[in-house]
Amino acid sequence: MTNVASPEIYAPGLEGILAAETALSDVDGAKGRLIIAGHDVEQLAPRASFEEVASMLWRAGGLHGAPSDLRGALGAARATASARLPELSAADGMDALRAAVAQLTATGALAADAIALTGAVAVFAAAWSRRAAGLAPIAADPSLGHAADYLRMIGGDPTPARVAALDRYLVTVSDHGMNASTFTARVVASTASDAVSAITAAIGALKGPLHGGAPGPVLDMLDAVGAPDRAEAWLRAELDAGRRIMGMGHRVYRVRDPRAAVLEAAIGALERAGDAGAGGRLALARAVERAATSALRERHPDRPLAANVEFYTAVLLDAVGLPRTLFSPTFAVGRVAGWLGHVAEQQRNGRLIRPGSRYVGVRP
Ligand code: COA
Repeated sequence: MTNVASPEIYAPGLEGILAAETALSDVDGAKGRLIIAGHDVEQLAPRASFEEVASMLWRAGGLHGAPSDLRGALGAARATASARLPELSAADGMDALRAAVAQLTATGALAADAIALTGAVAVFAAAWSRRAAGLAPIAADPSLGHAADYLRMIGGDPTPARVAALDRYLVTVSDHGMNASTFTARVVASTASDAVSAITAAIGALKGPLHGGAPGPVLDMLDAVGAPDRAEAWLRAELDAGRRIMGMGHRVYRVRDPRAAVLEAAIGALERAGDAGAGGRLALARAVERAATSALRERHPDRPLAANVEFYTAVLLDAVGLPRTLFSPTFAVGRVAGWLGHVAEQQRNGRLIRPGSRYVGVRP
């Protein structure tokens, strides 16, 4: 255990610092392997529903008291949240979601709070997108699965192929090691604060474009590129202007993010089912990814920069019919499961997270 006499390590992005032991997920950045609740993401995502994976993550985090079959409980939680919708007037979906979640009150019983929060995040995100489009929110249908009802509540068309693709997305993003929003949730939980506060703070962290805010801009990029043969010139102009390519690069992965492959396969299945809506962007996305990977390799030969989860998130969520303003809130719909497992784990650990800082100011 660290104490004040330990040698000090300064890492401004906390790289290489272990701040927790977790049974929820493992990110191997060198090999490009992601294990979620004991399963490789490639195996888990096509086989398990969001409800099943949330339950697995919560059990792994030591969150007891939730039913092992979460489908009914989450349906009831969505119905409750739907019946008590807050104002949701913010122009930005993440601002609206953060404000709406913040007005919930934690009961202190973590299992009940986790179910209520997971249901509420989906309902608030969907209701915000309806209001933002000048439409009335659609009430939850507690009999449906979480992914199907989310798609229905945004006014989308919940065909089996689309629901399967969205479910695969929610599972794929449900947890990912000590990412910034999860760390945020754990810091708040470590102060013995409550789950509503932890999730509200995590939503704030997820909003940033360096974390969960990239998929909207990825789609803007695909629109701007327009056709595969224009990708190279467009990307070079962006890089020459000093701008980052959204959906590329990762703090931990030094190879392609394994989640990119899972989502790419899910979009392929959707396109084969003839159900990719206005989408059909997979070919363009693949061409842009190839061109971006090679342009970034030229400029950063020592720093592998490959596609991250957000690259194909943009294409998948677009194909299932989500407006791009809803991409980041939908990330929260999936990631909230992991956040809550981490809150439970951190509460059991009981150690206040309190790193040091080096004073570089004026001394008296
Ligand atoms: N496009 C262009 N250049 C990039 C890049 C990108 N997407 N990602 C990293 N780089 C460059 C940096 O500018 C830096 O160049 P420099 O050494 O000349 O300054 C170099 O690669 C190393 O990057 P660094 O800032 O150390 O990487 P990081 O670990 O802090 O960044 C991300 C990780 C995700 C923040 C970064 O790759 C990024 O901004 N990606 C785009 C946003 C995105 O997709 N976010 C979603 C993440 S899941």
